Amino acid sequence: MKAHLRKIANNLAFRIIAPIAAFTLTAGFFMYLFVLTTISDFVDSHIKENMIELSRYAYNICDSNLNELLKAGLIKNEKAVKIKKALTIGMLEDFMTTNSLKGSIIENDRAILSTGDSTEELLGKEHKRQHDLLTETEFGEAFINIEYGGRKYYVNHTHFQPWEWHIVLIKDAAQYSEMQNNVRLAYLVTGIIFSISVVLLICYLNMTIKSPVARIITPIKKGETPEYKGIHEFEFISDSIKDMMFEKERLMKQIIEEQKLKGIRVLASGVAHNFNNILVGVLGYASLIRTWLEEAKNNKQPIEGELLDDILKYLRTVESSAQKAGALAKELAELSRKRVLEKDFIRQVDINAAVTELARLLKNTFPKNIEISANLSANLPLIKGNASQLEQAILNICINSKDTMPDGGILMIDTYFTSLTSKNPQYPYIKPGNYATIEITDTGEGMDEETLNHIFEPFFTTKEPDKGTGLGLATVYAIVKAHRGYVIAKSAPSKGSTFTIYLPI
Ligand SMILES: Nc1ncnc2c1ncn2[C@@H]1O[C@H](COP(=O)(O)OP(=O)(O)O)[C@@H](O)[C@H]1O
Ligand SMILES: [Mg+2]
Repeated sequence: MKAHLRKIANNLAFRIIAPIAAFTLTAGFFMYLFVLTTISDFVDSHIKENMIELSRYAYNICDSNLNELLKAGLIKNEKAVKIKKALTIGMLEDFMTTNSLKGSIIENDRAILSTGDSTEELLGKEHKRQHDLLTETEFGEAFINIEYGGRKYYVNHTHFQPWEWHIVLIKDAAQYSEMQNNVRLAYLVTGIIFSISVVLLICYLNMTIKSPVARIITPIKKGETPEYKGIHEFEFISDSIKDMMFEKERLMKQIIEEQKLKGIRVLASGVAHNFNNILVGVLGYASLIRTWLEEAKNNKQPIEGELLDDILKYLRTVESSAQKAGALAKELAELSRKRVLEKDFIRQVDINAAVTELARLLKNTFPKNIEISANLSANLPLIKGNASQLEQAILNICINSKDTMPDGGILMIDTYFTSLTSKNPQYPYIKPGNYATIEITDTGEGMDEETLNHIFEPFFTTKEPDKGTGLGLATVYAIVKAHRGYVIAKSAPSKGSTFTIYLPI
């Protein structure tokens, strides 16, 4: 799980998208705060200005009526003032209706005009708060907003001094809803534009970075040589990887070639050893027969009876030994010809046939104190691959087994079908699927954990410099990898070793 999360976190797409997402969210948040404060300030001040304008208009109504009284010199005339006040109240009422305003005119704490159903209650509820909040300005005005019955109202208070009127104008915030809707729409549109830009940015980065990288990585994953043209850096990376892959392939081919020759050398020396054993026998019998024949000639004795039988018996042995030697020589010649001539063809490979041939060869060439047994599963499916390379891989493992059993032992080569339905917890990198499996077990010295950890590394060897190259198992690994397979080694000191090759079907 942890590894999985780490894989996601190290993913290129994640590295591109995560910072952009984080940036977008942070920038979006601050932008939202900024827009929210500036726009709501703007809205509030706009509403406030509108309300103050309306209040000034109401103030002017009162003012012009007072001026008329002054001009007519009737300001001391109580009756005229009363009439003018009544007229003014009527004008103010009209003004409120046309401007969808609620409100009241309060004279000596008594409402002499009140419009709108809830005005009284609204004001009553907020009366104390208003008194606390309303501070008179230059024009004797104060502006607040209040909540009542779940609705928002803007309240403007004007003090018209000569008549000691408090003119309170109330406007439902909903009256400004069109403007607020416009502001909301502006928010929404800004948000959408912002999101689209981010998506476009991600697409653009994906196009300019992720896809080119993917065009390099995908072929590498498939074991093909990557190629990307267009961006200098990517061309450079792609070319360098290509060169490295070519170089690696070239080196690997060279190593495999050398390993082929080494295999032939090992087998040839085995053949030579057997040859020598045969020759010793042949020479021994030949000189024995010669001695007997010379004795018979010198003594002028006839060759008959037991002597003749013995001579014939030994001659037959000489003949069969010579035939065996001939067969061995032929085999070695065939082997070297085949190994040198065979091209790197990919075709259907019969693993069992390859193992059978190899086992026969090993029986003829490995020391006689090594017992070779092959246990082959009858209906093993064919696999796609290179028979000569696979034989080489098996041979390399077998040669190591021979080296680890100088005093003799058993070398077992088994083949069987494996079907993995789920991941093996011990080897989680092996993909579930069907495999032709080759298992090579020896009863040799075995290896400790430390050695086991390094055996597939090129040039790792525990043998003396003229005996080991350290390339045997590295070659096995390369060959098996090229077949998209897996090779696993299990061993413990003095417990022998088992090498298992899984080749996908
Ligand atoms: N069957 C085995 N038993 C014990 N040790 C082994 C066996 N196979 C390989 N090794 C160890 O792995 C090392 C590397 O093997 P290899 O790559 O074939 O190189 P080399 O045989 O030239 O040393 C060997 O030197 C040996 O220590
Ligand atoms: Mg070796």
